[in-house]
Amino acid sequence: MSPLHVTRTLAEDATDAALRADVLHGLTATPKWLPPKWFYDARGSELFERITELPEYYPTRAEREILATRSGEIAAASGARTLVELGSGSSEKTRYLIDALPLAAYVPVDVSESALTQAGEALTAERPELEVHALIADFTAPLTLPATPGPRLVAFLGGTIGNLLPAERAEFLASVRALLAPGDGLLLGTDLVKDERVLVRAYDDAAGVTAAFNKNVLAVVDRELGADFDPDAFDHVALWDAEREWIEMRLRSRTAQTVKVPALDLAVDFAAGEELRTEVSAKFRKEGVSGELAAAGLELTHWWTDAEGRFALSLSVVR
Ligand code: SAH
Ligand code: AVI
Repeated sequence: MSPLHVTRTLAEDATDAALRADVLHGLTATPKWLPPKWFYDARGSELFERITELPEYYPTRAEREILATRSGEIAAASGARTLVELGSGSSEKTRYLIDALPLAAYVPVDVSESALTQAGEALTAERPELEVHALIADFTAPLTLPATPGPRLVAFLGGTIGNLLPAERAEFLASVRALLAPGDGLLLGTDLVKDERVLVRAYDDAAGVTAAFNKNVLAVVDRELGADFDPDAFDHVALWDAEREWIEMRLRSRTAQTVKVPALDLAVDFAAGEELRTEVSAKFRKEGVSGELAAAGLELTHWWTDAEGRFALSLSVVR
């Protein structure tokens, strides 16, 4: 039997219903917003991979440095036989963990079917002894994991936890805690608060790849709901909110315009200069991370950063 199993836990009509609900809710709210999970169709996933290679986008390189130097310690502390990775994308950095852990199974979980299947096929070709159970699923919804040997390590890398709002993060961490038994762990990647100029550059690169990624959400709504968003009628905006300590990505309407969303029987008016929030990317401090973990019933046991202190990986266990 092939060591790659792909399970779709998101029925196509449920995904469509979720997109409709989010677009209806977000585009009729003041201010307007859309959740970031809709960036990631096949093109959005490819654009994200290009972002990870940009000179300005340091988080991927910083986290890779930590994984390259600390995977042995992570393996010794965790001893996991099953690695569950939420928002796994290309699983590129995950190879350091896969090589270091005494794994029987790898369970990548992602909403992007294209990213999951590409990563799963590449991994099973490289490591034919590894069972890969790929789950097309929304990690903010309850997850049913395959029966694989413990201990289990849940990895949530890349700083993707920062794309959840504070209340969503609390709910998410509680749901991760519910997946863990004594002896299991959570490996969490968090981008750290730093100089505003470095942060803004990482989300507003000179080549315009992040701008294209940001506008891709409009192309998704056009394709899936028949909307007539013109991506060229919006500007990419990235700004630092110093109070909330997060980067916000927005799309700013260049003119006064009305966008039609036929599948929802909706017409959305934008004033000239009006902004639609498409993502927050929160940046963290150690005390905040350990406090949020503790509130979810998890105890931080290890904290590793890259040499420049830009990004952190933490290991936590059930309290
Ligand atoms: N972990 C990888 C990819 C990060 S990009 C890295 O560190 O480079 C964020 C990933 O999370 C994308 O692959 C995206 O498709 C996935 N994602 C975003 N929101 C999601 C959700 N609600 N449920 C499942 N996957 C999600
Ligand atoms: C996936 N996530 C952690 C990225 C981030 O940095 O918040 C998504 C991204 N948005 C713009 N650039 C990258």
